[in-house]
Amino acid sequence: MCRCEKIARLRRRAVLVVVALALAALGACSTPLPDPQSAGAQIYQVRCSGCHALYAPASLTAAMWEMQVERMQTVMLRAAVNPLTEQERFLVLTYLKAHATDATSASAPAASAAPVASP
Ligand code: HEC
Repeated sequence: MCRCEKIARLRRRAVLVVVALALAALGACSTPLPDPQSAGAQIYQVRCSGCHALYAPASLTAAMWEMQVERMQTVMLRAAVNPLTEQERFLVLTYLKAHATDATSASAPAASAAPVASP
């Protein structure tokens, strides 16, 4: 067999491995967030992904989100990370609760109507 044929086959296999790894990484950590353009989603991404992967909003109930965000304020303080401002906390919580496990579809439009943070 010609040498270059072998190399070409190896290279094809390498490409397959890279594609498989990329797909695995996508599946593992970037389940797309609902309503990604909303202020709440953006603050959630910026402020909550520094220490761990983002939890899917639909993975907790509204009450649990309220509790977890409260808890994270303490975790952030302890880690010398600026805790959420009053406005950030409001927007993140409104967003998470609108997409929580027990969210009613009626609460979703209210969340996208939340005021957008001014620069
Ligand atoms: C300073 C780092 C840090 C930041 C920033 C941070 N977290 Fe966490 N988070 C942690 C650590 C550490 C844990 C695991 C230990 C714990 O649960 O106390 C955790 C755990 C969690 C859990 C899982 C708790 C459980 O019981 O499984 C949730 C949900 C969570 N964080 C949500 C958030 C949200 C929402 C934000 C943004 C408001 C946020 N985190 C920002 C450090 C952080």
